[in-house]
Amino acid sequence: MATESTSIHGEWSGKLAFILAATGSAVGLGNIWKFPYITGENGGGAFVLVYLLCILLIGIPIMMAEILLGRRGRQSPMNTMAKLAREAGGGRAWKYLGIMGVIAGFLILSFYSVIAGWALAYIERAAAGAFTGIDKAGVEQLFGGLVGDWERLLGWHTLFMVMTVVVVARGVREGLETAVSVLMPLLFLILVLLVGYAIAQGDFARAVEFMFRPDFSKLTGESILVAMGHSFFTLSLGMGAIMIYGSYLPSHVSIGQVTLVVAIADTVVALLAGLAIFPIVFSQGLEAGAGPGLIFQTLPLAFGQMPGGAIIGVLFFVMLTFAAWSSAISLIEPAVTWFVENMSMSRATAAVATGFVAWLLGIGTVLSFNEWSDVTWFGRTFFANLDFLTTNIMLPLGGLLISVFVAWIMHREHLLGELEMPDGAVFQLWHFLIRFFAPAAVIVIFLNSVGII
Ligand code: PHE
Repeated sequence: MATESTSIHGEWSGKLAFILAATGSAVGLGNIWKFPYITGENGGGAFVLVYLLCILLIGIPIMMAEILLGRRGRQSPMNTMAKLAREAGGGRAWKYLGIMGVIAGFLILSFYSVIAGWALAYIERAAAGAFTGIDKAGVEQLFGGLVGDWERLLGWHTLFMVMTVVVVARGVREGLETAVSVLMPLLFLILVLLVGYAIAQGDFARAVEFMFRPDFSKLTGESILVAMGHSFFTLSLGMGAIMIYGSYLPSHVSIGQVTLVVAIADTVVALLAGLAIFPIVFSQGLEAGAGPGLIFQTLPLAFGQMPGGAIIGVLFFVMLTFAAWSSAISLIEPAVTWFVENMSMSRATAAVATGFVAWLLGIGTVLSFNEWSDVTWFGRTFFANLDFLTTNIMLPLGGLLISVFVAWIMHREHLLGELEMPDGAVFQLWHFLIRFFAPAAVIVIFLNSVGII
């Protein structure tokens, strides 16, 4: 039987609220900023295929496991892990999995907020008409002028962090649920509009071919790691965000069903983002592999040449901001609940404290694009290290440990009860995937990327 308890932090009003919130968490900079540019950098179709396989065979099963843990534990990720380990007779060390998640959330939020700040800055620029008739040198100047100026970056980063804290401070229903109920429908609406625009104005056929015709010669061990890491990042897995959202899920909502809806919505948004962006990029004869600047340089250039581009430009960066906002609240939520539970803080104080620490750390990312752009560790800037460490190592490792815990430590009857499934083919397939396939795949991809196999 599923647990009947509720979390002290609150509960979603129902199934739809959870779906909106979890989709809001999943759909973010990862889908609209990162997915198109890493697809561009890793050669298109073959990379997309590996990414889709990772979502299907690793991401979806682990998402179910993570929601299940949250709903059974009903606490912050760390206390949930401690409680469930006690229940299942596992070791005390499992609580460190929760702690690792909270730390990963901090690290991601710190750079996430800086990039989201770029989106805010571009709303302002687009609205001021800065894209109209802009040329290549112009967009470089626009982007360089922003990221090269740490004071401006800090300003936008601060604004975005305040927006995040304000929502989280208001609580699960008042804050999180209200925000996602407004942001998500608007986001979908804008995205569909943009794809329509890309079909009408861009080179749609070429974009489809680029994204869906696999060329396996372009696939390296590192690009497989990037595809896997991204499948965790884009589904918000491995750090407790989905776990904490699961802890607000009413009993008797089917975990399998909501997982499918969220994973499909996230994937569709990523693919649609690609289909909104690449046709425009190609129609202007621009490069797909432009890196993190893809949507900030290539797109404004294209918008500047196209009919209605000024309005479309504003809409695009509003959409990006909405997506980032609804993800950022889930990055901070695990830490906030932990402070409330262990430091007897109010939610508002915890939100401000957590936001402040992440903001402070974000200064490292702010400086990575200007003052510290030449300072590298392991050949990467401060920002690139944080991104690599969290996305390609901490999230897959977190996901690996979550699947090991659920499949090997927890009692099978508890899993069946929480999922409210009969012990049939679907359950057995899921159990096999998290017991053997997902952990093995993560390990093999890790070893492969460092060249051991
Ligand atoms: N899923 C978000 C995105 O794609 C990022 C994220 C990662 C959010 C981990 C929460 C937890 O942008």
